[in-house]
Amino acid sequence: MNFATRAVHAGLEPDPTFRSVIPAIHQTSTFAQPAVGEFVEDFDYARSANPTRAALESALGELEGGLASSFSSGMAATHALLSAVCAAGDHLVLPNDLYGGTYRLVDKVLTRFGLTYTLVDQADPGAIVAALTEKTRLVWIESPTNPLLNVVDLREEIATVGGRAFVAVDNTFATPVNQRPLELGADAVVHSVTKYLGGHSDTVGGAVIVKDPAVHEQVRFIQNSVGAVPGPFDCFLVHRGLRTLHLRMAAHAASAEAVVGFLKSAPAVEDVRWPGFSGMVSFRHPDAIGIAQRTRLFTLAESLGGVESLIEVPQAMTHQSVEGSDAAVPADLVRLSCGVEAPEDLVADLRRAIGAGA
Ligand SMILES: Cc1ncc(COP(=O)(O)O)c(C=O)c1O
Repeated sequence: MNFATRAVHAGLEPDPTFRSVIPAIHQTSTFAQPAVGEFVEDFDYARSANPTRAALESALGELEGGLASSFSSGMAATHALLSAVCAAGDHLVLPNDLYGGTYRLVDKVLTRFGLTYTLVDQADPGAIVAALTEKTRLVWIESPTNPLLNVVDLREEIATVGGRAFVAVDNTFATPVNQRPLELGADAVVHSVTKYLGGHSDTVGGAVIVKDPAVHEQVRFIQNSVGAVPGPFDCFLVHRGLRTLHLRMAAHAASAEAVVGFLKSAPAVEDVRWPGFSGMVSFRHPDAIGIAQRTRLFTLAESLGGVESLIEVPQAMTHQSVEGSDAAVPADLVRLSCGVEAPEDLVADLRRAIGAGA
C-alpha cells in the first residue's frame, strides 16, 4: 500500500476488549497474572513491554520496513543500538558534521568503554574506505546532517562500505516519507521521534528499526536491561503524530521552499541550504544571533520538526558539545525548522528580522 495509507493505519488494531478504534493508553507499571508466569504476549512488566508502546513500535516498523523498538529519547535509541551492536575494542566511523549529541555520546561516554572512532567526510567514498579497519564494527550515516544539511546518496555509501561493517542511518531529518534506508540496504535506522515523527513538539522519544531479527532481539535486550523506555502517553502522542506525517512533511517542504526563495536574495545572507525536502533550512549571516532573537513567528528554541517554526544558532545552542572538535559548526550559521504556518507569514517574519539588523 502507498505510504500515506500506511501512515494513517500503521499499528492501529481496534482494541480487543471495547473495539475502540484508537488503542488505549495503558498507563500501568505491571499486569495481573492469573497464575504464576501467565500473562498476555510479553506483557508482564511495563519496562519490558507495554501495549501502547507495542502499537507504536509496530507502526514505526511498518513505516521504515523493519523491526522497531522505541526509547525515551533519540539519544537513548542511539545508545541502545551502539550497545547492542558494538563491544569494547570496536571502531566506529562517524560523519564529521553529525548531530552534536551523537558525537558527545561516542566521544565522552562510549570511548570510556573501549570504543574508538574516526570522523570522516561522509560524502567522500575514499575517506570512508580509508577509515575502515579490521576493527570497524559500525558506520554511522546522518543524512541530511544536522545542522549543515549535507545529503549523501545512501545507496552509494552503503555500497562503499560493502558489507564490511554494520550501517546505521540517523533518519531524523529525512523521515521515512523521503527516505527509507532499510530498503536501500542499511542495517538499522535511528530516529529522534521528538522531531518530525512526533511532529508537535510535545514529547521526547527515540526509535531503532532494524532488518535482522537477531539484532532486533539484541536491541530489545538492551531496551529492557537499560530501561530507557518511553511512557505510554508519549507513545500515544508519537503514534498519533505518525498518522499525519506525510501531510505535514509536504507542508514543511512548501514552507521551506518559500523561505529559501526569499533567503537566496536577502541582504548579507550566504550559503542557503535546503535538501529539497523536509522543513530544515540553514544559512549564514554575520548577525546570526541578532536575527534569531528578532523573529516573532519563528520561536528561538532548540529542537525541530514540530508544526510551529523554530530558529536557532547551532554553534551557541545545540552543537556546543562539538566546539573545538573536527565536527565544530560555524558561529554565523542559523538553522530554521520551517513549520506548517502560511509560508508568506514565515517569509515576512524573516524579512523583518533580517532587514531590521541591516
Ligand atoms: C539528527 C538527530 N539525531 C538524534 C537526536 C537526539 O534526539 P533526542 O533529542 O530525542 O534525544 C537529535 C536531536 O536533536 C537530532 O537532531
